[in-house]
Amino acid sequence: MSRFYLTTAIDYVNSRPHLGTAYEKIAADVIARYRRLSGVPTHFVMGNDEHSQNVYQRATERGLEPLAFCDQMEQVFREVWAKLDVSFDDFIRTTEDRHRTAVTTLVQRIADAGDLYEGEYEGWYCVSCEAFKQDKDLIEGNCPVHQTRPEWIKETNHFFRLSKYRDRLLEHYAANPGFLVPEVRRNEMLRLLERGLDDISVSRTGQSWGIPLPFDATSVVYVWFDALINYISAVGYGTNEALFNEWWPADLHVVGKDITRFHAVVWPAMLMSAGVALPRCIFGHGWVLQQGEKMSKSLGTSVDPLDAVDRLGPDPLRLYLVKEIAFGQDGDFTWERFEERYNVDLANNLGNLVSRVAAMVHKYRNGRVAPTPGAVPQLAERAADVVRRYRLAMDDHQLHVAMALAFELVDATNEFITRSEPWGLAKDPERAAELDQALFEMSEALRIAAILLSPTMPASSAEILRRVGESRPIDELRVGRDTAWSAVARTIHTGPPLWPRLDTSGPAPTRAAAREGTEHSMTDETEPQTEATPAVETPRPTETSAPDTTAVAMPVTGAAAAPEAPPAPAEPRLSFDEFMKLTLRVATVVAAEAIPKSKKLLKVTVDLGTEQRTVVAGIARAYAPDALIGRTVVVVANLEKAKLMGVESNGMILAATDPDMNPVLLTLDDPEKAPPGSRVR
Ligand code: ME8
Ligand code: MG
Repeated sequence: MSRFYLTTAIDYVNSRPHLGTAYEKIAADVIARYRRLSGVPTHFVMGNDEHSQNVYQRATERGLEPLAFCDQMEQVFREVWAKLDVSFDDFIRTTEDRHRTAVTTLVQRIADAGDLYEGEYEGWYCVSCEAFKQDKDLIEGNCPVHQTRPEWIKETNHFFRLSKYRDRLLEHYAANPGFLVPEVRRNEMLRLLERGLDDISVSRTGQSWGIPLPFDATSVVYVWFDALINYISAVGYGTNEALFNEWWPADLHVVGKDITRFHAVVWPAMLMSAGVALPRCIFGHGWVLQQGEKMSKSLGTSVDPLDAVDRLGPDPLRLYLVKEIAFGQDGDFTWERFEERYNVDLANNLGNLVSRVAAMVHKYRNGRVAPTPGAVPQLAERAADVVRRYRLAMDDHQLHVAMALAFELVDATNEFITRSEPWGLAKDPERAAELDQALFEMSEALRIAAILLSPTMPASSAEILRRVGESRPIDELRVGRDTAWSAVARTIHTGPPLWPRLDTSGPAPTRAAAREGTEHSMTDETEPQTEATPAVETPRPTETSAPDTTAVAMPVTGAAAAPEAPPAPAEPRLSFDEFMKLTLRVATVVAAEAIPKSKKLLKVTVDLGTEQRTVVAGIARAYAPDALIGRTVVVVANLEKAKLMGVESNGMILAATDPDMNPVLLTLDDPEKAPPGSRVR
């Protein structure tokens, strides 16, 4: 294959990215980086899906023009993708001119093919899916994905003759077994196709937010019909023929399993109708779950990917998602498991290996390694076998298998060190050549492992490669050529621990001791100690605050409180995971009014950056409604809704209580710096 064009789903911008949507972008990024590492010219496109009703709704709530709101959200998305090191080549928005032109062109071609007709649509519509639903799609009358009741709509629409393409789709599936993967998704779609297809409504009347139909200005193109076209508009369909010919058809669309039907049935039928080539492969990945449920904004079960990045950095998060979730299946995210894998894979295993290799090479050979002429490398065959299987797995989108293989090489290298006992060889001058070879082998194997890990952990791999004396940047390395066992002498560099171990189990005082450097990395007694790797730099709110608050808050009754026996906590402590379930956000007050007959309660409308909410707050005794407008407050954003004095409250405004039991609002030191929506912890 001469080039690789890869896309992800484009995101609805009615709320910030969460860990589920981020997972898709990270997985696609790993694929893109791997293709580049394979020397294949790669074009990786992501973007935002802006013409949805929810987006329009959010903008209206915030008093913004929809486009202005989308402009703001573009920055929010771009910032998250940058922090996660997602290396897209182009970012498409469906409000761009190039997209509008492509949509108009393609829809016109579908109309010219005789595949559009006017008809009456009456039925259910789930706004969060932006999809029409039949009774059989609903569970107890609700959308199974969003657990909300769809709207009943009745309008005159333009329909697409999807039913006409059923046989051609079945033929295409039969002739192209790799068109939709993994197998489970393919089987689902085949069953659906075998049952037969209904025509679908592809326009909406009475809406202004969208792209007008070229032949009926009173209607806009249905948001899904519009959104799917992004894959060709991003490469110049209707605007830049040379670019289009260069990249289309796409090699891979990476999308979630909830939207495979749109991609694997509707989209190919649209292309068939317009006479455009079909994408080569669609990969329907699984969901990131939290406590068994799809992580989702509308279900209120989302983790902000930036919280995970703040916690341990982008690479540990990327590794967790790619290695721990079998690509194609669902997988759980919990903070506990994230930390556990960080300690096992990174602090104890890979990070420790990086430190050991550099420490030994410096102690015994002043930082230089070179193979012993004539020595038969013991790790070379193992490395070659890992590389071969890694490439097969990556080519087959088995990202989790590929990452496990890279760690197989890390494990083999750690075992090699244990077996060859370089510290023993160092004691015997006659075994100097053996020691040279052993030191060379461990650094060479580590170099190869770092190349294999680089699509998933780009920044950390670059640092490991620098430390093992690989002077070329990753973009100049090739998975074929540069993972071959070399015989190049190199200078090895030491550095601080890449991933300080988190102490997640011990009581708070142990962690305090760790910060003073009394805890050492897991190394052999006789091996030169690397720098101690205490849990220092990693931000971990419970670690830094727990010991101090314990000391201050404990009611100590005279001298009887023995220092060696830490007093029992006065109240049960939350785990970090439990604390992180609470979403506290900065908000500004946009409206406030008294609630009739209540002395305490005010009805307050707050702006949370991406939405407005009504919250009932017990602050009337201390705050007049008008005085609140424009103030910055802190809101508990994921509290269950409650009705107070007949008013629905969607959240809670935080306030302290003074000695006379009057509320004192929590506010920010510098509201300019943390705009509405900023997370508070
Ligand atoms: O569906 N785990 O946008 P979207 C894994 N605009 N993936 C998840 C996920 C989770 N918990 N939650 C969402 C749309 N996703 C449309 C796409 S493409 C022409 C238009 C995935 O913001 C989801 O499956 O709701 C989809 O692939 C992507 O995130 C964007 O979801
Ligand atoms: Mg969705």
